[in-house]
Amino acid sequence: MNVQMVDLKHQFERLSDEIAPAIFDVLRSAHFIRGPVVDRFNDALAHYLGVPFAHGVGNGTDALQIAYMALGIGPGDEIITPSFTFIATAEAAALVGATVVFADIDPDTYNVDPNQLEQLITPATKAIVPVHLYGQAADMDPILEVAAKNDIAVIEDNAQAIGATYKSRRTGSLGTAATLSFFPSKNLGAFGDGGAVATRDRALHERMKMITNHGGRHKYYNEVVGVNSRLDAIQAAILEVKLRHLESFTAARRAAAARYDALLEGVDAITVPVEAYYGRHVYHQYTVRARDRDALAEHLRAAGIPCGIYYPVPLHRQPVFAQGKMRSGPMDESERAAREVLSLPMHTELNRAQQTYIVDTIRAFYRWKQPESSAAGADG
Ligand SMILES: Cc1ncc(COP(=O)(O)O)c(C=O)c1O
Repeated sequence: MNVQMVDLKHQFERLSDEIAPAIFDVLRSAHFIRGPVVDRFNDALAHYLGVPFAHGVGNGTDALQIAYMALGIGPGDEIITPSFTFIATAEAAALVGATVVFADIDPDTYNVDPNQLEQLITPATKAIVPVHLYGQAADMDPILEVAAKNDIAVIEDNAQAIGATYKSRRTGSLGTAATLSFFPSKNLGAFGDGGAVATRDRALHERMKMITNHGGRHKYYNEVVGVNSRLDAIQAAILEVKLRHLESFTAARRAAAARYDALLEGVDAITVPVEAYYGRHVYHQYTVRARDRDALAEHLRAAGIPCGIYYPVPLHRQPVFAQGKMRSGPMDESERAAREVLSLPMHTELNRAQQTYIVDTIRAFYRWKQPESSAAGADG
């Protein structure tokens, strides 16, 4: 059976009647950088997130760096972020010269544990950067509360969670600013790199916008140090079409997650994802905890089933940070997650037959690993 980790080919085939003409319109217009399509997408994105301002940039990593720069974060400042995330969140902090302070995660949601934050805050702390990992919101209320109490910005790394909600509001609309990635495999994916910054704060928006374009509001007048990081018009045209389908993409992902949950019932060696009481999970990844994780991954791959470990090494142990400018609190849950997590195929085209095959293969692994007679008592 043909199973993909992310099936972008079939998604494109389904949407090609809408996407191909949108790309062609840009080609015909020869307006490739900025312009009306990018403006339209920025507005549609802001509307979707529920904020007044959103602005496309080159990718999600640049988006983080631009947000940090716009908030004036630099050498001597500290940014608190979870250790269990993709490198970009912390890398962008290091790029602006800030010290990264790593917090541990909540074991159910894999998101930053709000109880860890207070003890990590110092007079140098400028921002907390929760990551809405795997498509689920971090517990934002206590994060926003501790940030407000200490006059610290909150930048949501919403790269993996567009469409997720927290207490009926969309992620990306909750903090001081938010960043997004449109990397092709993301829930809203471009056909190349893309990203965005979003905020409710007009002054911050103007500053972020200026930084994305060489630090100038007007061509050849440069007010601050900036970067060249723009969402190009072809990507904006593709994203504009796909944004219209995002709710149906999310519904397909949630249906696939519910099927996995049901199919995996009774497999004691697997812990399925938890959807927190406070919002909608959009399942960028369907990530389980698995006993004998590495052997199971090998078994799946041998059966032609791709799977992923996001992330095998928490950031506080990555060579780039281990000797660098970073501090961290206790990291027990990040360490445990790195040992136990396994992401199964998840995308908008996944069907019941494929999922049945995946879960049958998982069940076969544990039967082979642990014959009935010796299974009793092991892990419940
Ligand atoms: C949590 C997180 N932050 C930031 C990024 C960076 O986005 P990009 O690859 O578009 O630079 C990614 C994904 O790639 C991500 O998963």
